[in-house]
Amino acid sequence: MQKIKNVVGFTGLLAVVVLTVSFSNVQSQEMDHSKMDMSGSEMKKMDHSAMEMSTDKMQGMQDMKNMKDMKDMGDMDMKNPDAMAIMKGKMIFQMSCFLCHGNKGEGDGPAARFIGPYSHPRPNNFTMGIFKFRSTESGDLPMLKDLMRTIREGIPGYMPSFRNMGEEGIKSVAMYIAKEFIQEELPTESTIKYVQHVGPYIYSPQSVERGARIYGSMQCGECHGDDGKAGRMDLRDERKIMIHPVDLTRRETFGNGISHEDIYRTIMTGLDGTPMPGYNDSFAGKEDSAWDLVHYILSLQGR
Ligand code: HEC
Ligand code: HEC
Repeated sequence: MQKIKNVVGFTGLLAVVVLTVSFSNVQSQEMDHSKMDMSGSEMKKMDHSAMEMSTDKMQGMQDMKNMKDMKDMGDMDMKNPDAMAIMKGKMIFQMSCFLCHGNKGEGDGPAARFIGPYSHPRPNNFTMGIFKFRSTESGDLPMLKDLMRTIREGIPGYMPSFRNMGEEGIKSVAMYIAKEFIQEELPTESTIKYVQHVGPYIYSPQSVERGARIYGSMQCGECHGDDGKAGRMDLRDERKIMIHPVDLTRRETFGNGISHEDIYRTIMTGLDGTPMPGYNDSFAGKEDSAWDLVHYILSLQGR
C-alpha cells in the first residue's frame, strides 16, 4: 500500500516537473520569436538577403528544437530505451541533484556555496571528467557502475544516498550524467586487477603485520601519518583547495566505501583530483599483498 502511494506520489511529481519544463520552454520560445522578429526587421534595412538567410536558419533551428523537445517527451523514444532512460535521468537530476551539482553539472548549484566553499570536497564538476570513485586506473573515466555505486551509497558527510530511487532511477541518472556532462564513452571493463583474498591473504594477525610493513615501505605515512591519524596539512586538490588526508582510523570518513573490497579498490585506483595516488602499478604481480595493506587499515579501526 505504502509502495503504491509512493509510486503515485512520484508519478505526480514527475508530471508536475514535465508540465513546468514544457511550459517554460513554450514561454522562452515565444520570447525568442518576438526578439528574432524585431532584430530581423531592424537588420533587414541593412542587409536584406543576408538577414533573410540567417533568420530562416534561426527559425529552422528553433523548429528543430521544438521537434527535439517533442521527440524527447514523445513517441520516437519508445523505440530507443536508452534515450528514454536518459530523459528520465534528466528529470531526476533536475529534481535531486542540481541543487548541489548545478544544472550544467558544473558543481555550482544554488546549495553548493553552502558546502564548505573553501574546503575540500566541492560538489563534483562532471564536465571536467575527474572522478574519485572508480574501478579504473588513475586518470581514466569511471565505469557506469562506479557512478551508480556513488549515487546508491552516497558520500558520507557530503552527499545523501539515493538508494530509495531504485536501481532503474539510479542507472538513468548515471546515464544522463555520462551523456550530457561527461560526453564520452565510459569504459566498460575494470582496468584494475582484482584478486580474491584467499590462502595466506585472508585476515589474520600475520597478514596485518605484513600490511603494516607495506604501509611503511610504500610511505603511506608521509600523508596519513605513521599512526594513520595525523594528516599532512599542506596538500591541495586539483582546484587548489586545501585537502586533508583521511584519518585512516575513522572509517566513517571514508567516501569510497568501507568494505574490504572498497578499500582494496581505493588503494589500487587512487582518488583522482586529490593527492591520493593509485597503487595499481606498485602492486603489479603481487596484488595478493594489497590485501595485507587492507587488513592493516581494518586493524587500525579495530576491525
Ligand atoms: C547535498 C549536495 C549533493 C547532492 C544533492 C548531490 N550531490 Fe553528488 N556530490 C556532492 C559532493 C559534495 C560531491 C563530491 C564529494 C567528494 O569529492 O568527496 C559529489 C560527488 C558526486 C559524484 C562524483 C563522485 C566521484 O567519483 O568523484 C557523482 C557521480 C555524484 N555526486 C552524483 C550525484 C547525483 C546523480 C545526484 C542526484 C541524484 C547527486 N550527486 C546529488 C554533493 C551532492
Ligand atoms: C600524497 C599523499 C598521500 C599518500 C602518499 C597516500 N594517501 Fe591516502 N589519501 C590522501 C588524501 C589527500 C586522501 C583524502 C582524499 C579525499 O578526501 O577524498 C586520502 C584518502 C585515503 C583513503 C580513504 C579513501 C576514502 O574512501 O575516502 C584511504 C583508505 C587511503 N588514503 C589509503 C592510503 C594508503 C594505504 C596509502 C599508501 C599505500 C596512501 N593512502 C597514500 C593522500 C595520500
